Amino acid sequence: MTQAFQKLAAIRGMNDILPEAGARWEQFEAIVRDWLQSYGYRNMRAPVLEHTRLFTRGIGEVTDIVEKEMYSFTDSLNGESLTMRPEFTAGMVRAAIEHNLLYDRPQRVYAMGPVFRHERPQRGRYRQFHQIDVEALGFAGPDVDAEMIVMLARLWRQLGLTDIRLELNSLGQPEERARHREALIAHLEQHRDILDEDGQRRMYTNPLRVLDTKNPAMQAMADSAPRLSDFLGEASRAHLQGVCDRLDDAGIAYRMNPRLVRGLDYYNLTVFEWVTDRLGAQGTVCGGGRYDGLIELLGGKPAPAVGFAIGVERLLDLWSQGEAPEARPECDVYIVHQDEAGQRQAARLGEQLRDAGLRVVVHAGSSGFKSQFKRADASGAQVAVILGADELAAQVASVKWLRSTQQEGSGQQQVPFAELANVLLPGRPKAKSAP
Ligand code: HAM
Repeated sequence: MTQAFQKLAAIRGMNDILPEAGARWEQFEAIVRDWLQSYGYRNMRAPVLEHTRLFTRGIGEVTDIVEKEMYSFTDSLNGESLTMRPEFTAGMVRAAIEHNLLYDRPQRVYAMGPVFRHERPQRGRYRQFHQIDVEALGFAGPDVDAEMIVMLARLWRQLGLTDIRLELNSLGQPEERARHREALIAHLEQHRDILDEDGQRRMYTNPLRVLDTKNPAMQAMADSAPRLSDFLGEASRAHLQGVCDRLDDAGIAYRMNPRLVRGLDYYNLTVFEWVTDRLGAQGTVCGGGRYDGLIELLGGKPAPAVGFAIGVERLLDLWSQGEAPEARPECDVYIVHQDEAGQRQAARLGEQLRDAGLRVVVHAGSSGFKSQFKRADASGAQVAVILGADELAAQVASVKWLRSTQQEGSGQQQVPFAELANVLLPGRPKAKSAP
């Protein structure tokens, strides 16, 4: 009896990263790790799953993320509500508190990995996407805010990205926002008739977000709304000035954007985003800011903090439009062989060459030399090592440079097994090839 078979496919908005793209991801992650370490950041990893209440409390009940984008479910074993992290910050802070990380000194930490948001998928917007999340916990001054921005500018330079601009704002302190909020609600009430459904809904719960509207009919109302910057006290202004001065010192251009409010509730003072026009509608490649109240809100001893997250898919999309370097081929050396004895010798030689630091693929399965060479070529290897019956009898390997340069010639050379690593190691002088 035939059974109906439903084709298995990935969940919408969740992407497979196939080997060719995977090589690019690894290359990117390696650059990012070096970059983070060059500023003293250390890796830290928290679980993907957390208690739902961590995010509702941390990110805020009336944010898009908490209201409608979280992958939450009830653990059938104990009835607890769990959520797949929609961002890193809340979990990083939870872990720092739980393990007393801030006991004797501030911490610069980072994490990389998948995060989950139930949004409508489109280019640059996915339901599983990846972030590089960077947090400086326990630092109060504008120096660290500015350092983060300067370090991001360095990464863009290193990747050869030029079309990214910086938008900056200050959200002040909660009391300053409360006074602004009152004035803002009064303004929204005056224009109640032109507010769309979202605007009406958010008018009292999150009036600042109403100004973030893309609705053209509401632009004039948003433009004439009271500005938070007019409600900032002296200390908040000084903090912002401190950031701006340091950006000027570093020669980093920015645009003050009073509309920049970010989609998470924990921010205060500095907020920033890096935006590009080259990715269509989803042009924000990185966002972050200061969140001095979050550690206390989540049960820790009060401590200031600042951080940001890069959207990896968006940044890779941008990188691939420019002069991203070629991804590394899958191996340096591809060993082709004949018969069982050849295969076993190939396996031994493979281990020997890996000991010497080479990346080696030993052909697997029985196929003729011709198809083995095709595979060797497709692997991107610089060199094929050949172990046929003649070679085994003479205890040598034939070496064929696949992407030959003048120095190496295009012929084959025969090399005793013990000398193979020396001949193959890149950068070492190579023996003259046979004519
Ligand atoms: P966020 O702005 O929500 O901030 O996300 C950071 C970045 O993740 C965005 O700028 C964007 O590049 C990327 N991103 C967001 N949603 C999607 C999506 N659906 N698909 C693809 N990429 C996306 C945060 O998550 C904060 N935790 C950042 C932070 C860290 N603030 C302080 N510390």
